[in-house]
Amino acid sequence: MKFNRPEDSPVEGIDSGNLPKHIAVIMDGNGRWAKKRLLNRVKGHEKGMDAVRTVVRTCREIGVSVLSLYAFSTENWRRPKAEISALMTILHRFIESERDEIHGNNIRVNIIGQKERLPEDVQRKLNDFIDLTRDNDAMILNIALSYGGRAEITDMVKEIAGLAVRGRINPDDISDDVIADHLYTRRQPDPDMLIRTSGETRISNFLLWQIAYTELFFPETLWPDFGRNDLIELIKAYQKRKRRFGKVKEE
Ligand code: FPP
Repeated sequence: MKFNRPEDSPVEGIDSGNLPKHIAVIMDGNGRWAKKRLLNRVKGHEKGMDAVRTVVRTCREIGVSVLSLYAFSTENWRRPKAEISALMTILHRFIESERDEIHGNNIRVNIIGQKERLPEDVQRKLNDFIDLTRDNDAMILNIALSYGGRAEITDMVKEIAGLAVRGRINPDDISDDVIADHLYTRRQPDPDMLIRTSGETRISNFLLWQIAYTELFFPETLWPDFGRNDLIELIKAYQKRKRRFGKVKEE
């Protein structure tokens, strides 16, 4: 499937002049979706992959610039080995089945997180995917894998401290912008929207620095049931919110 540019095909009811540039998603509720159906949790993750495909397509169609999906956290390494290995297999399958469509739609794939902790075959597949899509510029798809917001901040502090020790930066010159330049999301806009499905109202260590002024949404829908219309309705709700960024009125 190939999409037109958003100006060619405005999506129903969405104001194309006030689009979120960056949407971040905590894809929660796969396990509960499976449990409700007396299925193994892994079935929930498999169905969750279909929701990933839908959300990637919809964001590209609408004209969102960055989509960040929380697929595996640093804490998820504590899950049973069989579930971790099933998630890695699902990731493999996702790359195989979506590679052509994602690349064909000019989407650049970027991994945020400690990629080096992933199994080597998964790393190789991801690296090939990243290389293939390197020059694409219609949308960035950040897949957060072995990701933790505190770990990201710790890595940033180490990098900047290293520069300071080598005399390459003066500590007085460290600013918000310098910090943002040393995060995994460097050169990307901060999320305008963060969506966490399944009714849980936690951030769970996702993009801690970047979500300082992000609008938060906690739909009850379990991730495998989350579809195009759910996303469109949330974007419309976002467009009704007044964002002040700490100021008194919009300027
Ligand atoms: C949280 O639900 C979900 C995860 C830990 C995994 C998310 C992974 C996918 C949607 C698979 C495909 C992803 C990509 C990018 C290919 P949970 O298991 O914690 O659900 P629960 O809270 O109901 O148990």
